[in-house]
Amino acid sequence: MARVFVTRELPGTALERLAAAHDTDVWPGRRPPPPAELRERTPDVEGLLSLLTDPIDAELIAACSNLGVISNYAVGVDNVDVAAATARSIPVGNTPGVLTDSTADLALALMLGIARRIVEGDAFVRAGEWVTWEPGLLLGHDLHGATVGIIGFGRIGQAVGRRLEGFGCEILQTSRSGGVDLSELLERSDFVTVHCPLTPETRGLIGTEALRRMKPTAYLVNTARGPIVDSDSLCSALAQGEIAGAALDVTDPEPLPADHPLLGAPNLVVIPHLGSATHATRERMADMAVDNLLAGLAGERMPYCANPEVYEATRA
Ligand code: DGY
Repeated sequence: MARVFVTRELPGTALERLAAAHDTDVWPGRRPPPPAELRERTPDVEGLLSLLTDPIDAELIAACSNLGVISNYAVGVDNVDVAAATARSIPVGNTPGVLTDSTADLALALMLGIARRIVEGDAFVRAGEWVTWEPGLLLGHDLHGATVGIIGFGRIGQAVGRRLEGFGCEILQTSRSGGVDLSELLERSDFVTVHCPLTPETRGLIGTEALRRMKPTAYLVNTARGPIVDSDSLCSALAQGEIAGAALDVTDPEPLPADHPLLGAPNLVVIPHLGSATHATRERMADMAVDNLLAGLAGERMPYCANPEVYEATRA
């Protein structure tokens, strides 16, 4: 039996499987364990199951001298210092694939939500302002037939592209492995939707210059990671009418404090990082994260590993 720390309760029954096999300590709070608490609960753990809200940095990894496995409950591993884990030959698990379709569905919901003014319409009705059907009331823009620029054409970007084909959209995409130039994508798109991972290269990718390249009638959607879009630049682009609007599932910082300038920006829809938030998907993610952890603790290759080179190093 290994000692394992899990940084939050997870949906479904996956943690029961983990607890049946290992000595499992689950952080009971709704909020992430504060860094000091995380350090206190983990010095002798062999396995760590973390969430995207937990910074698993080099310092923490160094402090956990017995740590042999990290399993992150997310496809993105930007909260984990993967290089520090790799240097210790610690495999880092993630949850690719299972959340692709749910996240792509939400990206489409945000495109339609911002362009067809769904949140505004709801507020309008509730405020008692709906007095009659009016030819010019709350007019928006069509998604069908639009040109959509997809930044990052991996699993989720491609799933968004498949859905948009059904809407008769022209699709432009840019990714590490090809597609059009980012500038062309920004200049031609009616909707720009972000699906790349957060890396040092993509941090702040959508800043003042990128936003200025977009059409004043275009919408920005981000369901990837908040820091890919520079919040200050977005605030000012929305305030100046440099773009038509934005719909964000992810923000920088996350969560947004109540007095954050973005919350006062016009034509912005913002929701609390819900890309994968369906019952089925979050349960599948929990199963996958636990499967990764169990495999790692058994000394087997993790089914989904963000740093598979650790296995190559072991074999060499
Ligand atoms: C992930 O898995 O990286 C997502 O952001 C969680 O929804």
